[in-house]
Amino acid sequence: MIKALRGTKDILPDEISLWQRIEAIGRNIFNIYGYKEIRTPIIEEASLFIRSIGDATDIVQKEMYVFSDRGNRIIALRPEATASIVRAYIENSLFQAGGVAKLFYIGPMFRSERPQQGRQRQFYQIGVEAIGSDNPFIDAEVIALSARFLECLGVKKFHVKLNSLGCQKDKIRVIEKHKENFRPYLERLCETCKNRFDKNVLRIFDCKEDSCKSIAQNIKAESALCDDCAEHFEKVKVGLNAIGVEYTIDNKMVRGLDYYTRTVFEITQESLGAKDAVCAGGRYNNLVKELGGKDTPAIGFAFGMERLALALDKAEEVKNARCKVNTFVAIAGDALYNEAFKLLDSLRMAGISSEIDYDTKSLKAQMRKAEKLGVKFVIILGEEEFKSNKVVLKDMEKHSQEEIQLDKLIAELCSRPGLEHSYTKKVVDR
Ligand code: HAM
Repeated sequence: MIKALRGTKDILPDEISLWQRIEAIGRNIFNIYGYKEIRTPIIEEASLFIRSIGDATDIVQKEMYVFSDRGNRIIALRPEATASIVRAYIENSLFQAGGVAKLFYIGPMFRSERPQQGRQRQFYQIGVEAIGSDNPFIDAEVIALSARFLECLGVKKFHVKLNSLGCQKDKIRVIEKHKENFRPYLERLCETCKNRFDKNVLRIFDCKEDSCKSIAQNIKAESALCDDCAEHFEKVKVGLNAIGVEYTIDNKMVRGLDYYTRTVFEITQESLGAKDAVCAGGRYNNLVKELGGKDTPAIGFAFGMERLALALDKAEEVKNARCKVNTFVAIAGDALYNEAFKLLDSLRMAGISSEIDYDTKSLKAQMRKAEKLGVKFVIILGEEEFKSNKVVLKDMEKHSQEEIQLDKLIAELCSRPGLEHSYTKKVVDR
């Protein structure tokens, strides 16, 4: 039997309402904050990611899916979306509209990582990018948006960690300081980190090897922000304080992608453990220029949707909000099958979700099926009642039933709690 590839997953109908909820609430709040959706291709030239994420990063070194196509072009499955969006911003001259280009995206990303809970090879991200301003209040807006999104979803017990890496010159100074800090331990580092020591010493802080982790823990945090970057960081904090977004400063946070400058942040959530971030982001003030555009500052974030779904799955109110079928049409006697089929269609056309048992068995078996679906009402078509144009409406929650005139059924259902949003008028007009 052919199975899904390791690290990939089918999102099954039972789980999908959770995903749709994340997407709907995301689209809504991003729109409120002025972000418009962008969809970029899943495949890009591999060089786009090598140049932006950095050739010494884990993503580029060992996690990127790269292949050459029939024209011998070197193609990558996108490991993240920021680089693609910056490419699209430059290629489509989105800067011409002036101001800040505020974009959001939802889609699959690919990284060949060791699969585990909340870590997959194909995973989904939902994120935003604000391209065109270095104003620290944009940083505060973007960070606040990520926290407000979680609040709207009903995710609790999350924690925003904040740091500033400074500008390119500051980053170089920090790298030099850390080289001196790690030099005495060089021999005790793993082979990958020995290599990182030369190429990008900050990556050592991300190493998952126990020996490297214990060395990194004892290295003191280095901050070498120039006056401008220090002032920018202070203003980000002022902005966040002004609107009551809680955060803690973590000046050992370095992030796994090289394009970051100045503000970086991560959000962890209690049910996922402190190790795995549900959201991460930051400024990348040099990336647009690096990829051939004008000097344009930018900032953004991405949530891992599997991790969001894991955090949400535990929230009781979300479980209860899962969408259900509202009504079930049951038939007492095969002769009424055609009438039942017509009624089913009318209910659906009126916006009332409805089911029927196509393998008609006994009325008892149909009732069991209705119960399993968790419907609010069962409409029973019995031969005697139908002769006088009536059906039996059974309220499954109240355990009561009544006879109802067939032509009044839909209006009656639409007046019941939970079904009042159905499109009564449309059917009454028909
Ligand atoms: P990232 O930290 O590489 O940043 O990923 C962002 C989020 O995607 C992570 O915090 C995590 O929730 C999720 N994620 C990453 N890898 C996996 C995986 N293998 N399986 C499941 N979830 C995963 C970025 O991708 C940046 N582009 C974020 C950004 C946007 N920075 C600025 N703008």
